[in-house]
Amino acid sequence: MNTVKTVRELRAAVARARSEGKRIAFVPTMGNLHSGHVALITKASQRADFVVASIFVNPLQFGAGEDLDKYPRTLPADQEKLLQAGCHLLFAPTVEEMYPDGMAGQTRVSVPQLSEGLCGASRPGHFEGVATVVSKLFNMVQPDLAIFGQKDFQQLAVIRALVHDLNMPIQIIGEPTVRAADGLALSSRNGFLSEEHRAIAPVVYRTLSAIAESIKQGERDFPALINAQLKQLEAAGLRPDYLEIRNALNLRPATAEDRDMVILVAAFLGTTRLIDNLHLNLDSPA
Ligand code: PAF
Repeated sequence: MNTVKTVRELRAAVARARSEGKRIAFVPTMGNLHSGHVALITKASQRADFVVASIFVNPLQFGAGEDLDKYPRTLPADQEKLLQAGCHLLFAPTVEEMYPDGMAGQTRVSVPQLSEGLCGASRPGHFEGVATVVSKLFNMVQPDLAIFGQKDFQQLAVIRALVHDLNMPIQIIGEPTVRAADGLALSSRNGFLSEEHRAIAPVVYRTLSAIAESIKQGERDFPALINAQLKQLEAAGLRPDYLEIRNALNLRPATAEDRDMVILVAAFLGTTRLIDNLHLNLDSPA
């Protein structure tokens, strides 16, 4: 696996693969890779002949006071994992390479509606930062397909929308969340949890599962259901940011008539913000 740091080298390597008739898959990441990322690379190598990954901790998607500076940077270990998983090319640019003219005057991509609410409400500008960097990366790599984790459900919806709205000829694939044995969704931020908090964290997924189970049993009083589970999260020592039931396609608040739903949660454990979701389609039960 080759690692390149400039757009020029990236374009040259992708052009070479393309001239050999290869189908290009792209997996954008912020590094500190875990089994969830490895699953994305594995999927990419099944779907394409040439797999490109990127590692870039994008300052544009971090708000003031968020964890940009302490976000874990583990390039050598990440390179090893990518190699093992079948990645062919890693693009690991500097901030200057991505934003050579600085970020203040950078053209932005914003996806209204889908970016509002949920994580968009508590992280203003976050999805604009994501949509902008993903658009730039897509234009740099020009892949046939790109693969993202479903753990960031709202992010995936935003990316699907931008690709559709801006007519980018890229197939977007969402991969199921990889979980620890106790149900906790794998995330680079789990490394910030103390031992005590790590023991509490699985309550997040248990909460989602309990709500899904109640809905399957016929419960449709969503506010009551949510309130009861918010209390459970608080009792376990979490500080919930949101816990919501939404329509899985348009992310509008779910109604009693909805069949395809997603239950989404964000909650703080200490200073670590955990997010997770559970997709519940009543017409095709898992
Ligand atoms: O999900 C992530 O790791 C990031 O938001 C992404 C998509 C790589 C954009 O920086």
